[in-house]
Amino acid sequence: MTMILPGTDQAITSAAELLKAGKLVAFPTETVYGLGADATNEAAVRKIFEVKGRPTTNPLIVHVRSIEEMEHYADLARAKDPETIRHRLRALSPLWPGPLSVIVPKSNRICNAVSAGGDTMAFRIPRHPVALKLLEACQLPIAGPSANPSMYISPTTAEHVEKSLGSAVECILDGGPCVVGLESTVVSLIDDVVRILRPGAISADELRKHLGCNVEDFKPGVMTSDTKPLLSPGLLAKHYSPTTPVVLRDRLASIGNLPSRIGVILFNDHSAPCEALITRVLSDAGNLEEIATNLFAALRELDEANLNLIVVDTCEPVGLGAAIMDRLIRASAP
Ligand code: TXA
Ligand code: MG
Repeated sequence: MTMILPGTDQAITSAAELLKAGKLVAFPTETVYGLGADATNEAAVRKIFEVKGRPTTNPLIVHVRSIEEMEHYADLARAKDPETIRHRLRALSPLWPGPLSVIVPKSNRICNAVSAGGDTMAFRIPRHPVALKLLEACQLPIAGPSANPSMYISPTTAEHVEKSLGSAVECILDGGPCVVGLESTVVSLIDDVVRILRPGAISADELRKHLGCNVEDFKPGVMTSDTKPLLSPGLLAKHYSPTTPVVLRDRLASIGNLPSRIGVILFNDHSAPCEALITRVLSDAGNLEEIATNLFAALRELDEANLNLIVVDTCEPVGLGAAIMDRLIRASAP
């Protein structure tokens, strides 16, 4: 039986011991809950892939406490231009701890399963105090994808983790609902051009401001399963999907006969586009941060309501709106 433990110092110490013993621990971050394992322990990291049903070709993000730790576990000397990467990491320091993951050259201090055998890897410093205390207590880099079965919606509460991964994790640390609610922005620092591989709460503009260089924004649609090689293997066209079919509000007209039992997720307090059994409004004020925070919990709730269709609102794909629409386009992909 999996234990949900409150994020007390005592529980964090026990969770750290489990990680050191090669076990899996789910932990809160400010973005979504992560499924953690010791990133230096190949057998422990392999368990993550097993439990999630994740293709072993899809690399994981490693959580650390500082830029110094990133530099220790990376191998910047293998980069074409190590000094530029070092400089970029320093320039991004005001954004950490926070919802930003960077891709850099990997060292053999991190096991190969983390990078799916590749020679680059992703790092981030999470902002949630429980995640930071866990990193401190175990003194290990923690490999941590979102704590959901592969392809399903990322968890934003401890209960979400319990429901979908339940018995497969040794313990779940409860840090309350995640405040950001969407997975981190993933940005590659490997090439001359800094490139966003997954949009998140940190926008291209924010990155440009700190880096003082051009940042290639995420291009929707370029990373599909047909694009080889994938720039970021996790970004398949269909992802983050509920079991119930999802349609975006502006595509509703393309469905001829609407089924019975429809659920509607609205971004703000305007009227539903069709008759609905359940309606959820994510933010009365239409605030994008609040919409992002509440989105995944609403998708999960409606997915469990035995509906035939979930209709979801849309917004301008700008800034955080781009990250929200990215997740929804994947959730509604055929
Ligand atoms: O907010 C987050 O990032 C959460 C929390 C738990 O930190 N984690 C998360 O991990 O979303 P995951 O595994 O669900 O997503 C990691 C993404 C995937 O799209 C993966 O393909 C990409 O990061 N990624 C990891 N390493 C990479 C690499 N070396 N090159 C390109 N993409 C990489
Ligand atoms: Mg994920």
